[in-house]
Amino acid sequence: MKRAAPIALAAFLAGAAAVAVPSGMGAVQALLVLLAVGAAALAAALAVRFAMEERARREVEEARRALVAAASHDLRTPLASLRLLVDAIEDGVATGETRDRYLAEIRTHVAVLSDLIDDLFELSRIEAGEITWSLRQVELGELIGETVAAMRAPAEQRGVRLGAELPAAGVRAEADAEKIQRVLFNLIQNAIRHTPADGSVTVRARPRGGEVEVEVRDDGEGIPAGDGERVFEAFYRGDASRGEDGGAGLGLAISRAIVEGHGGRIWLEDGMRGTTVRFTLPAAGG
Ligand SMILES: Nc1ncnc2c1ncn2[C@@H]1O[C@H](COP(=O)(O)OP(=O)(O)OP(=O)(O)O)[C@@H](O)[C@H]1O
Ligand SMILES: [Mg+2]
Repeated sequence: MKRAAPIALAAFLAGAAAVAVPSGMGAVQALLVLLAVGAAALAAALAVRFAMEERARREVEEARRALVAAASHDLRTPLASLRLLVDAIEDGVATGETRDRYLAEIRTHVAVLSDLIDDLFELSRIEAGEITWSLRQVELGELIGETVAAMRAPAEQRGVRLGAELPAAGVRAEADAEKIQRVLFNLIQNAIRHTPADGSVTVRARPRGGEVEVEVRDDGEGIPAGDGERVFEAFYRGDASRGEDGGAGLGLAISRAIVEGHGGRIWLEDGMRGTTVRFTLPAAGG
């Protein structure tokens, strides 16, 4: 939009030069010609501005439509299974042990659906700025230590080594501890999911200028070049993550919303083996 004024000025000057007031023309006529050229240039600049606004509006609308389509798809699949399971129980087709198994499956589907809806709701609240952050000084070393300890069992189950490397002096951020723990959890969970047995996942944190930088690095399958931005979109899942034990594709979108809500940035670091996700937070007292 800021480009509209220079465009108007440039068009005006170009128009004025092109008309180059003919020698026989009086001062009033020359002024009228210049005014006409100026008005035309302004109209052109406004048209450019409206076109840009219209494009931005269409992009937002397109993103909203894609989100609704993805959410409906993800709700429909477990709902279809639920309907079949409930029908089988209601019709008396499933009895005894089968009925118990179906009931357990129903419980699982309901839990997945309810997590999905909680996550979507949380994402929309953060993006709408409706979350009040409980900001305080957070010692990231402690938070990382706790999160790594909590994730050790699932890592070991997959034969993945999980560890942290932290500076002895500590790293303090101004942050909402619970929300940042959620980010760490999402990143570590992803790293464990995408790292084969014998691989390793390392979490690091360090102060950097007025910020702190945290990284979760794995030496797993990596993310295809070109997907660096898309992985942070809601419901984006790589092909390999569809179906099996993968989630809804909301973890990185929520992490980005939380980090940006703190005034930080989150990105995929290029050119490393495996995957490295980094994010920044404001340093405490910085
Ligand atoms: N460390 C990683 N290594 C390889 N691919 C990854 C990694 N982290 C994320 N991805 C890719 O990015 C996609 C999006 O990640 P995200 O965390 O948003 O969703 P998810 O893990 O599929 O589901 P959810 O987090 O909701 O349980 C994943 O499906 C996967 O394809
Ligand atoms: Mg995830």
